[in-house]
Amino acid sequence: MKFFIDTADVKEIRAAWEMGCVDGVTTNPSLLAKVGRPLEETIREICSIVDGPISAEAVSLDAPGLIAEGRQLAKIHDNVVVKIPMGVEGMKAVKALTAVGIRTNVTLCFSANQALLCAKAGATYVSPFVGRLDDISQDGMELIADIISIFRNYDYRTQVLVASIRNPVHVLQSARLGADVATVPFSVIQQLSQHPLTDAGIAKFLKDWEKVPKK
Ligand code: E4P
Repeated sequence: MKFFIDTADVKEIRAAWEMGCVDGVTTNPSLLAKVGRPLEETIREICSIVDGPISAEAVSLDAPGLIAEGRQLAKIHDNVVVKIPMGVEGMKAVKALTAVGIRTNVTLCFSANQALLCAKAGATYVSPFVGRLDDISQDGMELIADIISIFRNYDYRTQVLVASIRNPVHVLQSARLGADVATVPFSVIQQLSQHPLTDAGIAKFLKDWEKVPKK
């Protein structure tokens, strides 16, 4: 499974990149608002840190607008993947951008039928939002299992990118199900590295080390 980091904060991106677990980055307007930086400048800097797919979101409400935005975003760097919101206009934009060789990531996917349309339109990635489904008492990971089994039935090439991840269990379940990518907030990446027995083990080894003659 590929790991993307779900943030627009370059400090977090650098730290995770140095850990060796980052294959790409996803951003969205909310994440950019959180860091208070313009999109193009931020995406450019992210591309200078991470050598992998970097999702930048288009926000137009119609296909011509999404296509124009997508073309502009794709000019920033070869690694840019254009994030397109799910919907009829979004699907038109995915088809047109795919036809000219621009990679897309369809965002705000909440059903298997929406994912099916993304695959038909030729999207590079589809991003089902597991956390937001859990929030309304629907099992987000059940959707991931459903999409993966449907895509396997037909050998669709669209990659399943698990988004809206909120905790380490989401990551574990994504890997068990064989998701192509999980996009993970930095706080959750940190949680993945932790275990109370690791901490206790380090403390004990350090204590015992004090008793070891140094010469
Ligand atoms: C990533 O591509 C998505 O925009 C992001 O994972 C959404 O996460 P949220 O539901 O925590 O906002």
